[in-house]
Amino acid sequence: SFLRPWVFLRGAPAMKFLPPEGPPEVAFAGRSNVGKSSLINALIAQRGLARTSNTPGRTQELNFFVPDGYSGTDGDMPPMAIIDMPGYGFAKAPKAQVDAWTELVFDYLRGRVTLKRVFLLIDARHGIKKNDEEVMDLLDKAAVSYQVVLTKIDKIKPPAVVRLLADTEAQLKKRAAAYPEIVATSSEKGHGMDELRNAIARAVSD
Ligand code: GTP
Ligand code: MG
Repeated sequence: SFLRPWVFLRGAPAMKFLPPEGPPEVAFAGRSNVGKSSLINALIAQRGLARTSNTPGRTQELNFFVPDGYSGTDGDMPPMAIIDMPGYGFAKAPKAQVDAWTELVFDYLRGRVTLKRVFLLIDARHGIKKNDEEVMDLLDKAAVSYQVVLTKIDKIKPPAVVRLLADTEAQLKKRAAAYPEIVATSSEKGHGMDELRNAIARAVSD
């Protein structure tokens, strides 16, 4: 279904605006500016569908994307949805606003029954930060499956990618005996796209 055009279904600024639970969902989470929206565009090969920006705090709602061509009525549901989310951590926005986004993201991650997997994006230049750990704690506690995705690997040298993969693996091993394979990506250069598409396909068919 990555071959069809995708469309924007709905933006939810608060939990009460979420679409009803239906098709399996995968969500992209991560600190502000980590590259969530860019990665979604690269995966579905549609530049500009998810809005991106240099300024952290671009995505301000839970944005639902679905493959085009389904009415959404009973029996004609899209096979899946991808959710782009506001970032957590620092953003160029008032603190109350950032707190509200974080709460919305956390509520959605904790409570969405049709959420099959969270792709947790980590900037290759920064590695796992304290607020990423908090999100992992939340997901572990809520028993939601998550997979770590390194972003912007074009910004570091190949040996540094190898080291980062090893370090990140060691950190994940401390949390759980088993976890999905870490995917190293660059939306800019197209690295890791097929691997990530396959991971998404497996997650929604589980
Ligand atoms: P928020 O919505 O603000 O939380 O940000 P986001 O996580 O959606 O990040 P976004 O996709 O808007 O990208 C942030 C910045 O990083 C933009 O300037 C992108 O062009 C840049 N960027 C994203 N992915 C890559 C990548 O793979 N390589 C490089 N070099 N830059 C990237
Ligand atoms: Mg965004």
